[in-house]
Amino acid sequence: EVFAMTDAFEPKIIAFLCNWCSYAGADNAGIARLPSPANVLPIRVMCSGRVSPEMILRAFRSGADGVLVLGCHIGDCHYISGNHRTIKRVPLVRNLLGYVGINPDRLRLDWVSSAEAPRFAQVTQEFVETVRSLGPIAEEMAR
Ligand code: FES
Repeated sequence: EVFAMTDAFEPKIIAFLCNWCSYAGADNAGIARLPSPANVLPIRVMCSGRVSPEMILRAFRSGADGVLVLGCHIGDCHYISGNHRTIKRVPLVRNLLGYVGINPDRLRLDWVSSAEAPRFAQVTQEFVETVRSLGPIAEEMAR
């Protein structure tokens, strides 16, 4: 039991990546070199604006400890204003998470272009560390 306390918690992360910017950025970073040993599952979407609250909640229900939404920088969305919708929507979903007893910091929105492979690695690593410090979501829900 003493050892169980020191076991590093490896959070499960689902990352919704916009095809046009962030997925390409992840690709350039080398998907295989995502922060290890954390378990990051990339899901490609056509635009961050297509990531619905239902998709985010489903990701948590399916066992994710954290959900990352990465899209094109404002002004660079392939569909012009898709990410304007994302920037309004994600704070609402964060509020919703708070209401159902999930720490809103388990959901993060950020922007990564295809040319920003190092930024992709940095944002992902930061988020993994944030979620690791929050602990397993199952424990949070049980509180
Ligand atoms: Fe990337 Fe819309 S196409 S955020």
